[in-house]
Amino acid sequence: MVSDPAIGIHDLSFSTTEFVLPHATLADHNGTEIGKYHVGLGQQSMSVPAADEDIVTMGATAAEPIITRHGSDRVRTVVFATESSIDQAKSAGVYVHSLLGLPSATRVVELKQACYGATAALQFAVGLVRRDPVQQVLVIASDISKYDLDSPGEATQGAAAVAMLVGSNPALVRIEEPSGLFTADVMDFWRPNYRDAALVDGQESVDAYLRAVLGTWKDYAEQDGRPLDEFTAFCYHQPYAKMAYKAHRHLLHHCERHSGEAAVARAVGRTTAYNTAIGNSYTASVYLALAALLDEADDLTGRPIGFMSYGSGSVAEFFGGTLAPGYREHLRTTAHRGAVDRRRPVDYATYRELHERSFPADGGDHPTPSQTTGSFRLAGLRGHQRVYERRAADSARSSAEAGFRRLRPDGHRPATAHS
Ligand code: HMG
Repeated sequence: MVSDPAIGIHDLSFSTTEFVLPHATLADHNGTEIGKYHVGLGQQSMSVPAADEDIVTMGATAAEPIITRHGSDRVRTVVFATESSIDQAKSAGVYVHSLLGLPSATRVVELKQACYGATAALQFAVGLVRRDPVQQVLVIASDISKYDLDSPGEATQGAAAVAMLVGSNPALVRIEEPSGLFTADVMDFWRPNYRDAALVDGQESVDAYLRAVLGTWKDYAEQDGRPLDEFTAFCYHQPYAKMAYKAHRHLLHHCERHSGEAAVARAVGRTTAYNTAIGNSYTASVYLALAALLDEADDLTGRPIGFMSYGSGSVAEFFGGTLAPGYREHLRTTAHRGAVDRRRPVDYATYRELHERSFPADGGDHPTPSQTTGSFRLAGLRGHQRVYERRAADSARSSAEAGFRRLRPDGHRPATAHS
């Protein structure tokens, strides 16, 4: 099932936002019983982007350690997967290419199909590497999940970027053939071009996801994939952590296997650590599940892992991967946990102001307050053009702290969005 040479994920790194909103803060605001968030959805907190943060800054932050470790000599393609696109024409990947100083001899493109985009990018990358095993492809999945304030979807927001280096003889995960595929035209979740926040039919989206799980599995079995029992763990797309449990229970039930709590937890329990703290990161989510599994589990060398990628609308894919010998030496566990732990909690009013923030569309000069502490920031919008900055790490924290204070001048109520 593994091709020769093996092709797959050689390195994986993720980033998330500067700020975090604990679900307890949201529950205090809207009067929801906290058990619904913590137990019913399986979510503890959600990542909240700062004013000077977006899919490009997160994507560059995720990819930078990969380029630092491996260089860019073999990277001839960058595929940026997102459904939070910032431009109808220019790929967000071109900004990342520039921020990271990648060679001009690179093809860069953006891909979209809701939360499924990164899996399409990964599979296309595998195809490119098969054509020329010397080349590597940098896949970046970066998204900001946004629903209307006070809507049922609000508690399932989040944001993160995962960068993966795809190449031959991968150090982490060997991607297998076949894949199980499934497409169905359904209006479960969508975002028209004129809207910032997604529209969703919540119950229909859950049902459509579950139909897709069985659809991909059926095709996977028909393509002579592995029997279910061979898989050690399953990385599902996680719009909220409990969805992985729901999905796997559904699959076990369909396959007439024991679907009790312990069996489901064994298969998906180690994949939720990052998603439960970050929230829905759309197309990055299934690869955050992989990151959690790699960082949380004991040695899984040689063990098959199942991946179920679902994107509303809808497209889904089930495929397998095995963990390469020695993979644990290449993990970024400390950096990953640090990215989650370093986020600064915001109060409800600040979250609300950040949520409602948008640039005026008048072509003027609109600098963003300096709130982030990372290497990359969105400095503003000038003449309809997004302006990004790369800055020294030392100066970042002090300017961000000043910007954060400006955002909350009296310590409670935020200033207007464009102060
Ligand atoms: P809702 O109406 O807020 O919540 O919608 P609910 O009433 O369905 O409750 C949720 C769960 O909490 C239920 O458990 C309750 O019983 C439980 P379940 O029946 O599901 O097992 N609950 C409690 N548990 C313990 N203590 C309590 C308590 N109270 C209730 N006190 C919904 C939930 C997910 C629909 C909503 O948040 C939503 O619309 N979210 C956005 C859409 C979404 O995430 N859909 C998931 C599948 S689609 C997908 O994954 C694709 C997506 O990522 C987009 C893309 O592809 O780009 C979204």
